[in-house]
Amino acid sequence: MRVLLFTGKGGVGKTTTSAATAALAARRGLKTLVLSTDPAHSLADALDVPLGHEPTEIDTGLYGQQVDTQRAFEDSWREVQHYLREVLEQGGVDPLEAEELTVLPGADEVLALLELRAQAESGFWDVVVVDCAPTAETLRLLALPGALGWYMDRVFPRERRMVRSLRPVLSHLAGMPMPPDKVFDAVERLHADLVGVQQLLTDPSRSSVRLVLTPEAVVVAEARRTLTSLSLYGYRVDGVVANRVFPESSTDPWLAQWVAAQSEQLAGIATSFGSLPVWRSPYRAAEPVGLPALLDLAEGVYADSAAGIGDPLAVVETPDPIAVERVAADEFVLTIALPHADRRDVDLVRKGDELVVTVGSHRRALALPSVLRRCVVDGAALRDGALRVRFRPDPDLWMRTP
Ligand SMILES: Nc1ncnc2c1ncn2[C@@H]1O[C@H](COP(=O)(O)OP(=O)(O)OP(=O)(O)O)[C@@H](O)[C@H]1O
Ligand SMILES: [Mg+2]
Repeated sequence: MRVLLFTGKGGVGKTTTSAATAALAARRGLKTLVLSTDPAHSLADALDVPLGHEPTEIDTGLYGQQVDTQRAFEDSWREVQHYLREVLEQGGVDPLEAEELTVLPGADEVLALLELRAQAESGFWDVVVVDCAPTAETLRLLALPGALGWYMDRVFPRERRMVRSLRPVLSHLAGMPMPPDKVFDAVERLHADLVGVQQLLTDPSRSSVRLVLTPEAVVVAEARRTLTSLSLYGYRVDGVVANRVFPESSTDPWLAQWVAAQSEQLAGIATSFGSLPVWRSPYRAAEPVGLPALLDLAEGVYADSAAGIGDPLAVVETPDPIAVERVAADEFVLTIALPHADRRDVDLVRKGDELVVTVGSHRRALALPSVLRRCVVDGAALRDGALRVRFRPDPDLWMRTP
């Protein structure tokens, strides 16, 4: 089973490319689902068929699904919401305002992720292709499992049994209701589900992200930053689709100028994305809408010999985004791939058992493996698109049992 996520700047052709890739995969005999997490219903437009919240069969082996994040919350979520509202109301917040405040930010995204995981693990599909929303939203979506897990660990203590026995006391002391068991259960379930989502999407043997771009300076710059952020969060990018490439033979001076500008960008893309395959998708004379047009587009894209790969689902070997290495008896190096990151944007803080890495506006609290927890940070350097953090054993902790 493979999960392929397509992301990129607004309007570059994510929906078109993901629908086309899915159509080709199905044509090659794979049971394929193309799923959109974008509230704008453009996947249905590109495929030119109506889609619903459940997978709809479009062609032999090809299904489409529009995740309806506006759908009512699951009952378990309602419990959490109800509890939070109660706390807010007791804290003197107006009931109506409390209602608003408990519409949790990111709830739509959580629902989309849970649905994606449910489909991916249903055993029904060979491939799940995900048409993501534009970059910023996608990054928020993909950062969510980690970030929410981090909050949950802190807001809802893990030792719930202890909390359970102390509840009457705490409730009295705090003057506020302690969450009922149902809430803890719901939160724990959600936490486990989100860990599952993250495991699925960061597992290199199951999931990868493809960047869609058009050969234009602004778009390429954003794609490079996206590659950095995705690596920071531990997601694997396995290819780039350069879409809307103009045909080269043209006598029209206006078009010739575009062709020249694009070929300059394409040369830059080849170096920027190093070892990743770059598939080219020509600018069609008409919008590729409907199955025949999408299939035709995909055949052309993945037949592109410049990328060296004719298979839409080929597994491209890429180094692990994060690795730990023992380089000497008393020295470990944690490597985090951060392609294109600028030294000035990178910040690093050790907080207890976590290493908090910030790149521009993106931050990840990385739980350290146990061997590194007993070490101190000895230095860090950003070189060749990777952040290398050196650790040395902490004499006070090292000799103790782990
Ligand atoms: N190779 C192509 N040749 C011609 N038209 C294309 C090509 N690729 C995409 N288009 C057209 O460009 C428009 C935008 O494409 P698409 O909807 O796939 O982009 P998107 O990245 O999903 O956009 P959004 O960010 O809004 O989700 C559509 O009208 C689509 O038909
Ligand atoms: Mg789209």
